[in-house]
Amino acid sequence: MGRYKRLLGYLWPHRRAFAGSMAAAVFASVLDGFTLALLIPLLRVLFEVGTALPEAQTAVERIVDVAVGGWILGDGHTSSLRNIVLLILGVTALKNVGVVCALYLGVYAQESATRDLRRQFFAHLQGLSLGFYQRTKSGQLVSRMLADIDQASVFFSQMLQSLVRQGVMVVVYVGILFALSWQLTLVTVLLAPAIAMVFKPILRRVRSQFAVAAEARGELTAQLNETLRGAKEVKTYAAEGYERRRFGAALDRFVRSTLRARRLAALPSPLSETLAAGVIVLLLLAGAWLAIGGQAMRPELVMTYLVVALRLLSPVKHVAQFPAFAEQALAGAERVFEILDQPLDDVDPPATKTFPGLKEVIEFRDVWFAYRDDDWVLKGVNLTLRRGEIVAIVGHSGAGKSTLVDLLPRLIDPVRGEVLLDGVPSTDYSRQSLRRSLAVVAQETIIFNDTVSANIAYGEDVEREAIVEAARAANAHEFIERLPDGYETRVGERGTMLSGGQRQRIAVARALLRDPPILILDEATSALDSTSERSVQEAIARLMQNRTVLIVAHRLSTVLGADTIAVIDRGVVVEWGRHDDLVAAGGRYQELYDVEWTPRPMNSTSKGCEGDAAWSQ
Ligand SMILES: Nc1ncnc2c1ncn2[C@@H]1O[C@H](COP(=O)(O)OP(=O)(O)OP(=O)(O)O)[C@@H](O)[C@H]1O
Ligand SMILES: [Mg+2]
Repeated sequence: MGRYKRLLGYLWPHRRAFAGSMAAAVFASVLDGFTLALLIPLLRVLFEVGTALPEAQTAVERIVDVAVGGWILGDGHTSSLRNIVLLILGVTALKNVGVVCALYLGVYAQESATRDLRRQFFAHLQGLSLGFYQRTKSGQLVSRMLADIDQASVFFSQMLQSLVRQGVMVVVYVGILFALSWQLTLVTVLLAPAIAMVFKPILRRVRSQFAVAAEARGELTAQLNETLRGAKEVKTYAAEGYERRRFGAALDRFVRSTLRARRLAALPSPLSETLAAGVIVLLLLAGAWLAIGGQAMRPELVMTYLVVALRLLSPVKHVAQFPAFAEQALAGAERVFEILDQPLDDVDPPATKTFPGLKEVIEFRDVWFAYRDDDWVLKGVNLTLRRGEIVAIVGHSGAGKSTLVDLLPRLIDPVRGEVLLDGVPSTDYSRQSLRRSLAVVAQETIIFNDTVSANIAYGEDVEREAIVEAARAANAHEFIERLPDGYETRVGERGTMLSGGQRQRIAVARALLRDPPILILDEATSALDSTSERSVQEAIARLMQNRTVLIVAHRLSTVLGADTIAVIDRGVVVEWGRHDDLVAAGGRYQELYDVEWTPRPMNSTSKGCEGDAAWSQ
């Protein structure tokens, strides 16, 4: 029940449209019942059974009489017949106006509620930490955002809107039936709960099957997403056949589970119709007996009774379908709520302090961090970074360098120990304010599928001149000018239309534009070609001027330019100092230096080029 209520909550802001839809539906159903009631005078006139309405009236006939009696009794047969026919046409037209209003307002309420749900879902995603994204497949999230919310929104349309419309129809029809013959109708109404019992066990399985199908669809989306992103790898490794089989298998799982769910969900409707038809046949027999044998019911009433009873089949069939729809909607809603119930672990509590800017020193004090339980990646890191200093971090691949720098913008927080900014733990400051005062140029440059200028400005509202100036300083202006539409060129998904060096220079321009006092650089491990490397290096050197810099270094030139070098090995800082001193000390740094940066003859195994190669793989 809680979940129904939670879904209904989304409809509440749009209750006026929804109520309008309901009112229109009730209006249409009542008019529909009225046209059926008009059958009685029509049959009487057609078969010339006295006047259009008799003296001794059933409740239905009384209503017709009160409403339009004067008109259909007319001054003769022909005018009666004409008036009744005109009335049926007019009321039917009016009813359909009601139907259209009900549909439109209902769809409006549904789409509005769905939009709110999607907006909330997206906003919630933005508030989740990096860890969540590393645990969750993006395809599963896409599937939840699109397919599962669609499925949940069935609740608003099918469940509520149709339920009310069809439900009102059932009530009106049953009301007419009662008025025509309460004995016959009582039998039917008593049979209904018995029929409903038949569906109970089916419905119980419908939701679990829809949940299985939704999971399979999420997997399918996830896999598609992965293959599309890795299009280049798939081709270069000629893995098309492998990917086709993998996708085929996921697709089969999805289709199988969907078919099973749909098969179950389809059962109630035909079953209920068949059962109801059986009931009607019984009614027919009973009605015939009452009319001919017992003389209790006039023939035109029996006819009308049967027509209404037959008309009742369709809404009954629909209403019988609702529980299955509801189960389907709930299966989708549960997957959506599961994400909405994830705690917002990347959102600052309202009271958190704003980082006022660095005055003196950043200190990592005995910092421990693990991505999983006790699998420590950082094991008591101590590191000091003075304002205006450049600190280079070196170490083998997987030593924990990227993890270490992620602590500053609070993408992750220490499990033990703390990062102190002028003596205040970073966790006291809001993530927003910290992130605003620093820029990160990461190991892998992420470019969005937008124009070059939008990629440089990234979310900031800045003048074109400022963008161009940043691009110039980043050595990017020239190549941008040569792109087909200059700064307005769209760079393709993840910037695939640019070279690696170009992407990096755009990232540098983005950082320059932010002009942050603190800079975090995670040098790319892959060596670029020497010309673009030179311009990237120049750009980075310019970016580092007059800032406090924490840089993960893979190149000798970077290390030589640093004020302090920290050597990190398996999660601890093992050495610390200036280049010359560290080399002289002959420790871990000197080993790394020997292996990676010492110039060797061309036939050596080192990838070194002028001793300035990427150091660890
Ligand atoms: N999201 C994650 N979940 C679990 N483990 C992770 C995650 N990211 C990194 N690791 C693990 O943490 C360790 C340190 O990774 P990190 O990225 O900090 O290394 P690095 O020093 O930057 O290496 P490289 O020089 O190759 O970039 C590695 O063993 C890695 O497998
Ligand atoms: Mg790294």
